[in-house]
Amino acid sequence: MRTPYIAGNWKMNLTPSEGARYAGELAEAVRKAGVSCRVMIAPSFVALPAVAEAVKGSGITVAAQNMANHLSGAYTGEVSPEMLKDIGINTVILGHSERRQYYGETDEIINSKVLLALSLKMEVILCVGETLEEREAGNLESVLERQLRVGLKDVLPAEMGAITIAYEPVWAIGTGKTATPDDADAAHAFIRRTVAAMYSEDIANNLIIQYGGSVKPGNVVALMAKENIDGALVGGASLKLDDFLPIITYSK
Ligand code: 13P
Repeated sequence: MRTPYIAGNWKMNLTPSEGARYAGELAEAVRKAGVSCRVMIAPSFVALPAVAEAVKGSGITVAAQNMANHLSGAYTGEVSPEMLKDIGINTVILGHSERRQYYGETDEIINSKVLLALSLKMEVILCVGETLEEREAGNLESVLERQLRVGLKDVLPAEMGAITIAYEPVWAIGTGKTATPDDADAAHAFIRRTVAAMYSEDIANNLIIQYGGSVKPGNVVALMAKENIDGALVGGASLKLDDFLPIITYSK
């Protein structure tokens, strides 16, 4: 049985005070509504302490959107996972397509971050997904397979419980274009098969695979109804209570 897991990636939105205000409202709404899925929000680094304080006791997980692939040292502008752990953050999104696309993160860099996070007993959401060009060239499966095999290189079977995969087709992010539930489910099924081949059927069956890319209140039910879709990684629609609450209460 896989517990649905819905996450809000705030990206570079909401200041610490805006974020804390909204997170407090979200925590209150979650208490009242009583959601059955796991809920996570990922604000910017500087908003993490205030947001974590605002959701205390609500059961909402607060995560970072990225981290350095080193513990400390001369890496100007970077944030170490030890610093995150020190403020009580134990979950991190890694390999988001915006990190790959705009900041040159390769599968190898992402893998070094995954291994470092796991060594500190952090939970990881590893993002994978193809560009439109790659999809149209028929390379969907080879791209996903490479991102999984390199991204998870040297991750031990016993560590796979700390890994969530987010399938985010790059062409569906922030564009209003969603993969159809069937297309998304097919990609998720491929991801599950690949993880089964790399690890075991058991590990693959327990793996939470989130879909990300223009998830909205109006499409979440159809997406979540699919066998291999276990959650969502939501961008734009995670920034406002009016959008995010109906998404995390989709099953009501
Ligand atoms: P949108 O929901 O805005 O398309 O963003 C998806 C995403 O990139 C979440 O990480």
